[in-house]
Amino acid sequence: MATINTNFHKLAGSYLFAEIAKRTKQFAENNPSATVMRLGIGNTTEPLPSSIIKGLSLGVQKLASVATYSGYGDEQGDARLRLALADFYKNRGITVLEQEIFISDGAKPELPNIQQIFGSNNVIAVQDPVYPVYVDSNVIAGRTGVYTNGRYKKIVYMPCTQKNGFVPMPPKEHADLIYLCSPNNPTGAVATKKQLKAFVDFAIKHKSVLIFDAAYSEFISDKTLPRSIYEIPGAQKCAIEINSFSKMAGFTGVRLGWTVIPLELVIEKTEKGEVNKLWNRRQTTMFNGASNIVQEGGLAVLSKEGQRECKKIITYYMENAKIIKKALEKLGLTVFGGENAPYIWIKTPKNMSSWEFFDKLLNETHVVGTPGSGFGPGGEGYFRLSAFGHRENIEKAVQSIQKNLKI
Ligand code: MLT
Repeated sequence: MATINTNFHKLAGSYLFAEIAKRTKQFAENNPSATVMRLGIGNTTEPLPSSIIKGLSLGVQKLASVATYSGYGDEQGDARLRLALADFYKNRGITVLEQEIFISDGAKPELPNIQQIFGSNNVIAVQDPVYPVYVDSNVIAGRTGVYTNGRYKKIVYMPCTQKNGFVPMPPKEHADLIYLCSPNNPTGAVATKKQLKAFVDFAIKHKSVLIFDAAYSEFISDKTLPRSIYEIPGAQKCAIEINSFSKMAGFTGVRLGWTVIPLELVIEKTEKGEVNKLWNRRQTTMFNGASNIVQEGGLAVLSKEGQRECKKIITYYMENAKIIKKALEKLGLTVFGGENAPYIWIKTPKNMSSWEFFDKLLNETHVVGTPGSGFGPGGEGYFRLSAFGHRENIEKAVQSIQKNLKI
């Protein structure tokens, strides 16, 4: 008789954004005259700039003739795109070899996939609160114990609090795989070089691996803040970086990302290059490469013109962030983030729970946000608003909050 993966039963609830979508749909059905304004999931809204559309179109055109048609590509990704990404790092003074870069179809699937090269007994550590995929996928993979009092057993939670500026210190106890997200989703906090160095030192000492999610790196405007873990000396020995074109280029629906597995990375009983080879083995077995059309679009993103156009859109979203933050502060709310990340992290008023505030905001202002507790126990009492959206919608949402929120 076939059996199911019973780890699914350990999961505390539905996937956060699916739960929000469900509740929002319910609200809209019960209030058909209300216009719901969505500042919940961080979903890009602005059209792709012309240079990128040209790149994607070129990808389509190439499929139309015998001379340029391509079928399966390299599982590791188009060599031209890997090279362009190596240059992307080089322009920042970081050496990443083409062979260390693997093109993916986005960061979200990569974050669980990467676990397959690690033993099932590895202890994981996560920032708390953080993007729920790290925890949920490890629960499904069986790396955690049961869920009690808002926490899974066997996970090391690293608290991100107002006191530590939402950037934790490395854990006191041992951890094998440490997930770091900077700029952080959901708090919008960015770790400094010094703070990341503490994690690199910890990882080297404990022979742990840092899994560094840099999906929001392009939103950093403060030049002193690191945009890659490899800006930290020693990181090549202990860190994997996962990145995405989703937020930097509006590819949330297009799907493209990349993963860096340095040749120098060594873990227990492996030699230099072996972890990279393991991932290559995994990819060649389970992945046929990202779409050739989309990779052509990725090349356009990394071109000079593509970078210039993408920056303009990022600036647009960050202007949204400013508008939201300023309005909330004016209302007397305590607000964080939104300066080097597209997320605004709000302390809920009057010690309301995150879900209570979700209901209040939706009912009173028709604005959808994301309850902080959905990102982990440390997010309780906080609430996230996303700065992705058309300006007029952001302005309407802000006006509605200013006018209708009773605090
Ligand atoms: C978020 O809203 O946290 C993200 O957009 C979700 C995602 O990237 O999967």
